Amino acid sequence: MSPSSPKPVVPKTYKEHPFDLHGLDGISDAQIAEHLVLYAGYVKQVNGINEQLAEMIGRGQAPGTHPELATLTHRLGFEYNGMLLHEHYFSGLRSQAEPHPPSGSALAAALAESFGSVGQWQAAFHAVGESRGVGWVILFQDPTTHWLTNHWISLHQEGVPAGFTPLLVMDVWEHAFMRDYKATERGAYIEAFFRNIDWRMIEQRLLTTRALRLAS
Ligand SMILES: [Fe+2]
Repeated sequence: MSPSSPKPVVPKTYKEHPFDLHGLDGISDAQIAEHLVLYAGYVKQVNGINEQLAEMIGRGQAPGTHPELATLTHRLGFEYNGMLLHEHYFSGLRSQAEPHPPSGSALAAALAESFGSVGQWQAAFHAVGESRGVGWVILFQDPTTHWLTNHWISLHQEGVPAGFTPLLVMDVWEHAFMRDYKATERGAYIEAFFRNIDWRMIEQRLLTTRALRLAS
């Protein structure tokens, strides 16, 4: 059923967050700068698709099966999660970070409850990160049970547990590290990643009932 008088739709426009991540340990400024350009591309794609969809819907061009509208909508999962996961990744990093979650913190307790110990969680997270393929490793919290689980996410959107809160997001696409490391040195990149985690931010995400985002 098509509307008799289409109404214009004003699309949401997202802005890039200006992350300042100079001076990380084992992840160079040049690597981060290149990676932020890729992140900016996802923000641009999200805005572009939303504009096209808003225009089509606002003109009443969404009747029944509409191949172009469907194709654009199918792409949103990839582009949105490309934007969102990069924001979680970058905002979870900081220079001069502590190597582990502070002992006695709520985060350390939650990791120990779900994985036996912080060390066992970290070993499992690292192991998933070295699995074959490109994608993301994400520590998620089930907001209902508060249980924590590690997940592998392919292509930004495949494997995301609906409604779960991403706490720690690690990018293991090769573009995330190949300026600093060889393709065969992903393990060294993961070790560097662990030396730059903003544990306070990760704990903040744990303690809130919704995912924290710096950008909007
Ligand atoms: Fe990336």
